[in-house]
Amino acid sequence: MKTTIIDGQKISQEIKLEVANETKSFQDSFLVTPGLAVILVGDDPASSIYVKNKEKAAIASGMAGQTINLPSTVSEKDLLQIIENLNLSKEIHGILVQLPLPTHISEEKIVQKIDPIKDVDGLHPFNSGLLSAGTPRFIPATPAGIRELLLRNDSNPDGKHVAILGRSNIVGRPLANLLSMKSIGGNATVSLCHSRTTNLKKITINADIVIAAIGIPNFVTEDMVKENVVVIDVGINRVKSSMTKRGYRLVGDVEFESVKLKSKAITPVPGGVGPMTIAMLLRNTLQAAKLQCG
Ligand SMILES: NC(=O)c1ccc[n+]([C@@H]2O[C@H](COP(=O)([O-])OP(=O)(O)OC[C@H]3O[C@@H](n4cnc5c(N)ncnc54)[C@H](OP(=O)(O)O)[C@@H]3O)[C@@H](O)[C@H]2O)c1
Repeated sequence: MKTTIIDGQKISQEIKLEVANETKSFQDSFLVTPGLAVILVGDDPASSIYVKNKEKAAIASGMAGQTINLPSTVSEKDLLQIIENLNLSKEIHGILVQLPLPTHISEEKIVQKIDPIKDVDGLHPFNSGLLSAGTPRFIPATPAGIRELLLRNDSNPDGKHVAILGRSNIVGRPLANLLSMKSIGGNATVSLCHSRTTNLKKITINADIVIAAIGIPNFVTEDMVKENVVVIDVGINRVKSSMTKRGYRLVGDVEFESVKLKSKAITPVPGGVGPMTIAMLLRNTLQAAKLQCG
């Protein structure tokens, strides 16, 4: 059996190009440049890279990108005020706060402070409510990217049994809502699994599509999946390695080499789901600008 290695890098480039073209025609019609503000609290090196990449990608798509770097000591009150200013700004159409936040700041309060019409991360309860009602406005970027990867790789989830491993608010839960929606890219029968799921293997081995988002390196093994399965690996885990200069390498939640042999299609880590997240964020930002311009 020939396995397709799903190229997230290539697909994300295609989407970025589509967004750049649409941004250009939007600007020509409305004389408005979509603006994305990304707030980073603290100086975690991995988060700094993610945030810088989001700003760069926004600018490359013809949008205005702004990163607001704040010290980890910033107070919750000051952060709420900064969000309020961005909510009122005419130049900023999308606001994203890079999570996690330091423990003295309530993530819930911060997410709820963002004006839902600028919530391009789709995490505000108003937007997650719309998604669970089956009428989404902003779909969180990672689940949206996963649906896109499936659709663009001849793996439409319609009528399929999908096992999702992990029920986080940023991946598993919104993804379960998305793939079970009564619409294109939906209509799947979803098993949403988590750490309290009993007989996990019994579920995964019967699934047509397995999506792993748990954060445990190489958790999904070849004996857990059926022949011809489609596997989407969301996990990004650092494991020690003497083979790289950095002293670590990135692996997913799936034991790639063995699971690949049974798969019809599979995403690699890195280069699978990861690149899609930024592309979908840009799409949400453009959509936010369109909504705010009526
Ligand atoms: N590619 C991307 O763009 C992207 C984006 C986001 C996240 N990620 C990566 O995806 C992974 C998951 O991230 P997250 O933020 O969604 O995770 P998270 O908030 O840490 O949640 C992990 C989930 O996995 C479940 N889980 C843990 N152990 C399990 C087990 N043995 N069996 C079944 N389920 C188990 C947990 O169950 P409980 O709820 O019962 O605790 C929880 O629902 C991480 O590696 C993260 O880096 C990648």
